[in-house]
Amino acid sequence: MDTTDQLAQARLVPVVVLDDAGHADALAQALVDGGLPLAEITFRTAAGPEAIRIMAARGDVVVGAGTVLTPEQVDRAVDAGATFVVSPGLSRPVVERCRERGVLALPGAVTATEVQAALELGVETVKFFPAATSGGAAAIAALAAPFPGVRFVPTGGIGPGTVQEYLDLPSVTAVGGSWMVPRDRIAAGDLAEVTRRTAAAVAALPRAE
Ligand code: 3PG
Repeated sequence: MDTTDQLAQARLVPVVVLDDAGHADALAQALVDGGLPLAEITFRTAAGPEAIRIMAARGDVVVGAGTVLTPEQVDRAVDAGATFVVSPGLSRPVVERCRERGVLALPGAVTATEVQAALELGVETVKFFPAATSGGAAAIAALAAPFPGVRFVPTGGIGPGTVQEYLDLPSVTAVGGSWMVPRDRIAAGDLAEVTRRTAAAVAALPRAE
């Protein structure tokens, strides 16, 4: 199964901001316990690369890097074990480094021009970010019409109340968000809350046919 298939199977991408890599192993276990062995660890904190290394070394969690802005960060993410790399916007150098390193690039794109630019770089799955303020599910449905081969991973401002409207779209591979992995709860060591929220999100997924 390639990484795109793993995202499509999971249908949800917990977007994590980790303040202390010392919580990474417990976080991974909490996600596994919640039935969602996948995470995007952002480079917004210095703990990001070490957290990726700890989680990827377990072998039971698919780990990606988020908020990746430069080719150097791609290298750090891949060296740590990330198998997908998420960026808030579209960067040719980042996409090209991902290709060189053999990992999936998920760059941000929310307009037709941005989606077209992604296609020109050979990218067929984009992060639709920030989803809620960029027109939400209706905007994705409208963009999918001229770009039938493109798949979207909407992220940003999505929660339990709105996740379903995105998952219902055939053009949506998976939905990302931090609502399953609240930063303050992780920082407080309350991983049970992560498992609770993750399990609830997984339980609400439409059943595979
Ligand atoms: C991201 O990094 O993709 C978003 O900040 C996550 O968005 P959310 O916190 O609104 O879920």
